[in-house]
Order: sequence, then structure tokens, then C-alpha cells
Amino acid sequence: MAAPPAAFAATAATVREEVAVRVAALKSRYADNVCGGTPGLAVVIVGERKDSQTYVRSKRAACEAAGIASFGYELPADSSQESLIDLIRTLNDRTDVHGILVQLPLPAGMNDEVVLDAIALDKDVDGFHALNFGRLAMAGRSPPRAVPCTPKGVIELLDRYGVDPAGKRAVILGRSNIVGLPVALLLMHRNATVTVCHSKTVNVGDLVREADIVVSAVGRPGYVKAEWLKPGVVVVDVGINAVDDATKKRGYRLVGDVEWEGALSVASAITPVPGGVGPMTIAMLLVNTVDAAERSFQ
Ligand code: GUN
Repeated sequence: MAAPPAAFAATAATVREEVAVRVAALKSRYADNVCGGTPGLAVVIVGERKDSQTYVRSKRAACEAAGIASFGYELPADSSQESLIDLIRTLNDRTDVHGILVQLPLPAGMNDEVVLDAIALDKDVDGFHALNFGRLAMAGRSPPRAVPCTPKGVIELLDRYGVDPAGKRAVILGRSNIVGLPVALLLMHRNATVTVCHSKTVNVGDLVREADIVVSAVGRPGYVKAEWLKPGVVVVDVGINAVDDATKKRGYRLVGDVEWEGALSVASAITPVPGGVGPMTIAMLLVNTVDAAERSFQ
């Protein structure tokens, strides 16, 4: 993965082009289908979190660029959980919707588990339904319909840069259901030796010093010190943090969790923020949506 950081953005663009080719093939093969062979993704956002709105806009734009139909639903923050589940059930029944994404986090008072488990298994393009997630956890069983997008993007980046996790020591920083836990599972399935650090871990730096691969999903700028990194380490920075920057028109800039300048001179490869994992997350959502559409047409 010793490519210049700019290449990572190109990786996501390559995946998006591959998706566009698959979409075009579906449209020509299933032109007589009720939705003309067009894969469809429904994106649901509840409330007005600015970061979620930005992510959702990017996801929908990427869909449209790849020829996937995107259907957006914006519910007010004070919506009832029942109204959200009613919407999900309607989307479950629609033949032109092959994937359903409910942007997280949901407003306080809503129960993620109940909401995510209401999504039809086959349309769960986030892979967050408990059955899909359980299948992800268990090796050698039926695979999940979809693997969560950010973790899948992390593995795809490693694969496309020729980093084989087998036998390597991987340290994951963060244990969230969205990133840390599924990344740990995927790396274990790829035969890495995995350590997961979290808010109660002591001596995080000492554990990171042992790592051949570091995946940080903490959400704190500068959390991963360059001096923790072993020479030649591969660093995947999942953090997206806004820091004040008066020189920028919007007054802030985005940085990852890792001390970028210092890490650059130690790591054999490192993903930039922005432009590394974020675009891969979106690219994997497109892949999961086209996978779901292909299953439904077959
Ligand atoms: N919020 C942060 N990451 C994600 C994601 O991958 N999917 C959804 N639905 N919400 C998120």
C-alpha cells in the first residue's frame, strides 16, 4: 500500500466506475423489469445533524453518478419511532428499492436495534441487521447479505494495495458496532492477530507500537501519536474530525485521528483524511446496493 495518499481517492473512484459498469449491465439485461433494471437505494435521515446531512448528500450524489436511483426521506427529529418503522416497511415492499439505509445516529429516544431490524434482510445494505451482523461474526457459516460499508472499505483498501493481513498484528482503536467491531471481525477472518483498544484500555501506545496495521476509529484529532507507530506500519485512519481553521472559508478543516505529518515519515502507507476511507465507505454502499439489486433480479 506504499502509494502516495492521493491514490486512495483514485481507489474509490475505480470502485465507483466498476459499479457503474455493473449498473449499466443490469439496465440492459433487465430493461423489461418493473424498474427497468435500475438499482434503487432509499436513504432515510431523521433530524438535522449537519454531519449526517453532508454524508447523506454525498451518498445520494454517488448513487446518481453510478446510475443508481436514490430516494431520499427526511424525517423531523421529533418523529415517532413508529412512523420511521412504517416508512421502512413501505420501502421493504417497494420493488424499485433494493437497498435501505437509515443514517445513524438516530435521535435520542429511538432504539437503533428495533429500527435496523425492521429493514428487510435482503435490503440491509449497511449490514447492521442483527442477523446479517451475526453472520458476519461467525466464520464458516452462511455469509451476511451485506458487510458494513466502512469496514468493508477498509479491507478493500488493504486488498487493493496488496496488504495481506494474514499473520500480521492489527490494532483497532475503537469498538463501535459501525467500525471497530466489524473491522476486528473482518481482520480476524483474514487471519490477522487482532487487538481492540477502547476507552478503558490502558497503555494504548504500547499496544500500537506492536502493530503492523493500525485502524483508528476514535474520532479525536491527533489521538494516535506518530511516536507510537512502528516503522513500516500500515495506518488506516477512519476518524473524521472538524478542527477550527480561520484560513478556511467555512472556518474549519477535516482531519483524522492520526498525527499526519509525523506518521507520514514512519508508515509505509497511510490513508489521508479527507479522501481515504470516507470515499471508500460510499463506494462500498454502492457495491452493496448493486449486489442487492442483482440478487433481486435473479
Ligand atoms: N453513520 C456513520 N456511518 C454510518 C454508516 O456506515 N451507515 C449508516 N447508516 N449510518 C452511519
